[in-house]
Amino acid sequence: MQIPNSPAYHDPILAWYEANARDLPWRAPDATPWGVLVSEIMLQQTPVARVLPVWREWLERWPEPAALAAEPSGEAVRAWGRLGYPRRALRLHASAAAIVERHGGEVPSSHDDLLALPGIGAYTAAAVASFAFRGRHAVLDTNVRRVLARLVSAEEYPPRSQTRAEVRLAESLLPLDPPTAARWSVAVMELGALVCTARSPRCVDCPVLARCAWQRAGRPAYDGPPRKGQTYAGTDRQCRGRILEVLRNAEGPVRKPELDVVWSEPVQRERALDALIADGLVDPLDDGRYALPG
Ligand code: ADE
Repeated sequence: MQIPNSPAYHDPILAWYEANARDLPWRAPDATPWGVLVSEIMLQQTPVARVLPVWREWLERWPEPAALAAEPSGEAVRAWGRLGYPRRALRLHASAAAIVERHGGEVPSSHDDLLALPGIGAYTAAAVASFAFRGRHAVLDTNVRRVLARLVSAEEYPPRSQTRAEVRLAESLLPLDPPTAARWSVAVMELGALVCTARSPRCVDCPVLARCAWQRAGRPAYDGPPRKGQTYAGTDRQCRGRILEVLRNAEGPVRKPELDVVWSEPVQRERALDALIADGLVDPLDDGRYALPG
């Protein structure tokens, strides 16, 4: 791979961001570190439009980690609504409790302290340290990985799982000044979300088209291993979502037949319920009923 001349990317991408960034509440000057942390966990697997209303309600109800930590984890699962991948709600609840216990209720600013929180991985730690505290960290989400794959490596898509080489590349491209590096990270992410999209990139609108290695190579089609599909209908994940929806909408514990009606295939239904219980998202009570965790 050619060593990129990173300053040549910085100005055009930062200027593009200045002019084109979406006005999102977790990017506002008054956004709190807790608001940023909540947004990053929600946005990892859910599109912005679906996250916005849930994020707003969440922050209104639990403006600080201590407020969430004081409630049962089932309330977090309930408030998670239909965002999907609801184990994230439990992780956020566990993080809130650890923030209260270890950091006096304030979201820590250091990457290492963030990484040590339960359920916070390298991506979230880097994103919060950058976006909430203006630190200098490589922030690699799917959008950033795709932009860098195209811009620098002349590949339509990044490798299936993240490589050390991608991290090194992202680090080598970071502006030296930490607040500028933080802005660069969100700018590249936004470029991936709005212009350098997965399926139909809008290259005519790209601020670094002239410097794009993939463009220069004639936009070769991806020829790596097959990429994951996004099927949902008929999956265990859909079945789990239906079961959890019954519990979220119920005032209290429910009986098994109320869960059984949401899915007709019994083997898959039992497997889904067992998985929800194993994940701590559903509590089987002694009287045979089921509830959100206490
Ligand atoms: N702004 C900051 N982080 C973001 C994310 N993960 N997705 C979309 N916009 C963001």
